[in-house]
Amino acid sequence: MKRLDIFGTLRKDMEYIERELFRSIEGNELLNETSLHLLKAGGKRLRPVFVLMGGKFGDYEIESLKNVAVSLELIHMASLVHDDVIDDADTRRGQLTVKSKWDNKIAMYTGDFIYAKALLVATQLPNPEIHQRLSKAMVEMSIGEMEQIRDFFNTEQSVRRYLLRIRRKTALLIAVSCQLGAIAVNADPRISNLLYQYGYNVGMAFQIQDDLLDLCGTEKQIGKPPGNDIRQGNITLPVIYALQDQVIRERLLYEITRIHHMNGQCDVSNAIRMIKDSSGTQRAEQLATQYINKALGALAELPDLKIKRNLKDIAHFVTKRAY
Ligand code: IPE
Ligand code: IPE
Ligand code: MG
Ligand code: MG
Repeated sequence: MKRLDIFGTLRKDMEYIERELFRSIEGNELLNETSLHLLKAGGKRLRPVFVLMGGKFGDYEIESLKNVAVSLELIHMASLVHDDVIDDADTRRGQLTVKSKWDNKIAMYTGDFIYAKALLVATQLPNPEIHQRLSKAMVEMSIGEMEQIRDFFNTEQSVRRYLLRIRRKTALLIAVSCQLGAIAVNADPRISNLLYQYGYNVGMAFQIQDDLLDLCGTEKQIGKPPGNDIRQGNITLPVIYALQDQVIRERLLYEITRIHHMNGQCDVSNAIRMIKDSSGTQRAEQLATQYINKALGALAELPDLKIKRNLKDIAHFVTKRAY
């Protein structure tokens, strides 16, 4: 799976982060193999990129940023390994998931191993505020994932409930990635708070887009077969909006109930077609754009540095991305 296109000095520093990521997961033979499998599959490395970009708003120094960037990507990776067990996902980043190449038990310990490695890297950070913010984001992420499984196949859930969930499971970690880069290099709190606002809003749009791609993307684009969310009963924003569309509501409810009864072991293309034909996807896109506009608003208040251009580009990429 493709990395984000990063230019200039950041490219060199991201290569350094990449080497540090590989170094960070050394250890037990099997756990090293399973973690390496996911690391080698690629991914956008969005969170480390945000750490480095946040670092540009203070006394940028890669040695102070490295451990924040590596521990954030490790936390993200560990959550993905566990998430694929829960979501029963066979592919990620265009490769077999750990749970599919090995099994669920090995995936659970691989996730734990990667989390522990993230902690180990974080212990090298001198600032306890960073430890606290990282830990809090992990707690929120677990709550968000738990809320998600409790809401599987809940077709009555509100948009607000969905937004609270994705805030926890996705947006807060991205917000913290932007903020901690700045904190690690002693930027002014006003600046790190604005970066948090930027990251939070980008993160919300990012998950909405992820949910849209799960319905509308192709396997080649997203590195996994589409439709897994609806198969698992994960009722995402386009589906919630589609269910508000009286023209298709009854038929869509019928399809979702059928998928539920079949435990997802059935064709979901009918449901996907209905959602695409409704106003659901368009309304979800609109909300994602609103979040991006808020992110751009926070960005506008930040000091005029060259890096703002890149942060702006990423914000636009989020709602246009196909991977
Ligand atoms: C996937 O995150 C999980 C979500 C929060 C949507 P990414 O889309 O950042 O995954 P990778 O790291 O690029 O594979
Ligand atoms: C994000 O949710 C997962 C985490 C925050 C751990 P998804 O379940 O939508 O992520 P993908 O689609 O599997 O990457
Ligand atoms: Mg998933
Ligand atoms: Mg998804």
